[in-house]
Amino acid sequence: MKLVFATHNNHKLKEVQLLLPKYITLLSLTDINCLEEIPETAATLEGNAIIKANYVTKHYGLSCFADDTGLLVESLNGAPGVHTARYAGVQKNAKDNMDKLLKALKGKEKKQRTAYFKTVIALNLATEQHLFEGIVNGHIAQQKSGEDGFGYDPIFIPNGYTQTFAQIPLSKKNSISHRARAMQQLIHFLKNK
Ligand code: IMP
Repeated sequence: MKLVFATHNNHKLKEVQLLLPKYITLLSLTDINCLEEIPETAATLEGNAIIKANYVTKHYGLSCFADDTGLLVESLNGAPGVHTARYAGVQKNAKDNMDKLLKALKGKEKKQRTAYFKTVIALNLATEQHLFEGIVNGHIAQQKSGEDGFGYDPIFIPNGYTQTFAQIPLSKKNSISHRARAMQQLIHFLKNK
């Protein structure tokens, strides 16, 4: 069975392929010759994951899943939320995004820095659509620490840890992260299909 993962990121693709039963062959957007950036114009993470999955199903007639992730800070009413990637502008620069968030939280104590990452996956399988969700709770650090990871990793401290995602070993991050949790649900579903 062939299933498209609506991403251009081969690293993500390989990671997920390893977790799936052998009879499922994952294809990336590049593999199906979909070279454009699918516009993420919805007001919610769910909406954007659905747009991406539906785009592939509509234009290529293939079963597909797509993910969308946001960082939600409670004292900022859920910002940056659906705008996480481009919080500080369309250049989607991780340093600019973190600087903007640290500025927005300047002077706030730990309990006002509560935040969580949320990943939503939309799966289109034949005529059915299924949604999966993964969350990791934590808080935003006072400053950046650590070199590993990407995006907001240097300022996100998951609950139960004193270090940021950029300081925790990647294997550990990958077992507790929002994306891992959403993926685990998807994989469980596909294995039981
Ligand atoms: P995407 O939907 O996977 O492209 O994620 C949207 C944005 O969320 C990215 O551009 C990153 O800035 C941020 N993000 C997603 N996952 C992570 C993560 O695991 N650590 C840090 N930032 C992340």
